[in-house]
Amino acid sequence: MRSLLRLVVFAATTFAQAQNEVQPENWEADQCDCFLTDGVEPEYYTEHAFWDFRSLSDYAGVPDIIAGENSSAEADFTSKYFKKKEWKDFWGIQSWSNRRSNGLAYGARFPMVNSPNNIYIQPNDDKNPASDTYLTMRTNRLRTFQGASEFDSLDHFQYLSIRFLGRTRGEPGACMAMFTYVPADEIKNIQEADLEMLTREDTDRIHYTNHPGYSIEGEVFPKATRNTTLPDDLHWGDWVEHRLDWTPTQSIWYANGIETANIAFQVPRDPSLMIFNTWGDGGVWVGNMTLNGEAYMQIQWIEMVYNISETESDSKRKRHLDRRSSLSLRDFGPQGKLQRHKRDSPENECRMVCSIDEGGGAGAVTWLWGNSTAPRVFVGESFGGAVIFLTAWVIGLTAFLWYV
Ligand SMILES: *[C@@H]1O[C@H](CO)[C@@H](O)[C@H](O)[C@H]1NC(C)=O
Ligand SMILES: *[C@@H]1O[C@H](CO)[C@@H](O)[C@H](O)[C@H]1NC(C)=O
Ligand SMILES: *[C@@H]1O[C@H](CO)[C@@H](O)[C@H](O)[C@H]1NC(C)=O
Ligand SMILES: *[C@@H]1O[C@H](CO)[C@@H](O)[C@H](O)[C@H]1NC(C)=O
Ligand SMILES: *[C@@H]1O[C@H](CO)[C@@H](O)[C@H](O)[C@H]1NC(C)=O
Repeated sequence: MRSLLRLVVFAATTFAQAQNEVQPENWEADQCDCFLTDGVEPEYYTEHAFWDFRSLSDYAGVPDIIAGENSSAEADFTSKYFKKKEWKDFWGIQSWSNRRSNGLAYGARFPMVNSPNNIYIQPNDDKNPASDTYLTMRTNRLRTFQGASEFDSLDHFQYLSIRFLGRTRGEPGACMAMFTYVPADEIKNIQEADLEMLTREDTDRIHYTNHPGYSIEGEVFPKATRNTTLPDDLHWGDWVEHRLDWTPTQSIWYANGIETANIAFQVPRDPSLMIFNTWGDGGVWVGNMTLNGEAYMQIQWIEMVYNISETESDSKRKRHLDRRSSLSLRDFGPQGKLQRHKRDSPENECRMVCSIDEGGGAGAVTWLWGNSTAPRVFVGESFGGAVIFLTAWVIGLTAFLWYV
């Protein structure tokens, strides 16, 4: 009996506290409704994801190069890590080649094959290692083709802020890229916000573009692209925290928190995939890699806050709710059914607002304001909530008086 009373008292008190602006006591990161980013264009995003490759020794090992074009494409994943839900439910490792019915894809001088064998967890053998392991994406030149690596998101997003801690190593003739992508048959219809590092260039050089950066006739659009350097004497061989904010009005890139580019021209508009790749095809952009040469993009972690595109949001939203450790009162409408939330204003959608920019290291989420676990009280549409709130209060108060 006592414990039941305690429970009721606890419920009533916590309901009463619900309107205060103190960090919720049993706060957990998966209760956050929205994540507010910092930087020059702060935005709210409803989803958060984090992949940490720093302590994956159980999955580590550098796979030998596979010599055949087809066998490269058909290779299995290099470790069980890539079969884990956290990876495979979000990312798809690619195995396409640039061969087309009429030759090679535009601009290529030799065949290129994406291989699952070129994406692996590698032990960190640095002198003073920053981590036990990291993810490596490899591209390598063989006699008849170049091996490449790529992974794409399975979902489409409508705006996002993505960061990764990575570095680039290896021979000239490779391009290391991270980009949002809307595929199109013609260059002029592509929508893409990208970051690229070319191993043939100086080690401090970096490129940012809202594609198309050029026309099929080769005309360059200077407003779409920035050919710049990393700040603070940074080089792409160093571990650098790269960040792209794709917002409705501009694409903004940062390196170690310092703004490196901001392009408002041709900002991608439509639901986009998120892609990482390392590649080479002997074309003018990447240049030639010498025979048996290799280059790598190495990544300690990837973190992302994002909105799922409208077309996909319903199923994803449901998954998001299911994921919560406990289904809270606010999710029930007057009939006790799952209630749809207004998605137009952050005040309705973002009851508990959190941040990934407030310190605590990569992957850490901090609470900013709000309490999504409290019932939504005394707002017109939530009559049911108000009734439950009042009932709980009365029961709680009665129980409390009886208890003391
Ligand atoms: C938020 O709500 C939960 C559940 O009702 C409660 O446990 C917590 O104490 C509340 N926090 C604040 C600050 O109101
Ligand atoms: C590789 O695969 C392609 C398409 O499936 C096929 O046409 C070709 O003969 C294969 N090459 C080899 C060397 O097996
Ligand atoms: C970028 O700028 C540097 C310095 O001006 C230049 O050397 C390099 O060729 C440029 N890269 C491209 C791809 O245009
Ligand atoms: C790549 O090397 C070939 C010879 O192997 C040469 O014909 C071509 O011009 C080179 N391309 C570039 C972009 O350097
Ligand atoms: C993401 O979705 C939330 C909730 O619908 C919305 O408030 C926010 O403005 C969206 N963010 C962007 C950048 O559109």
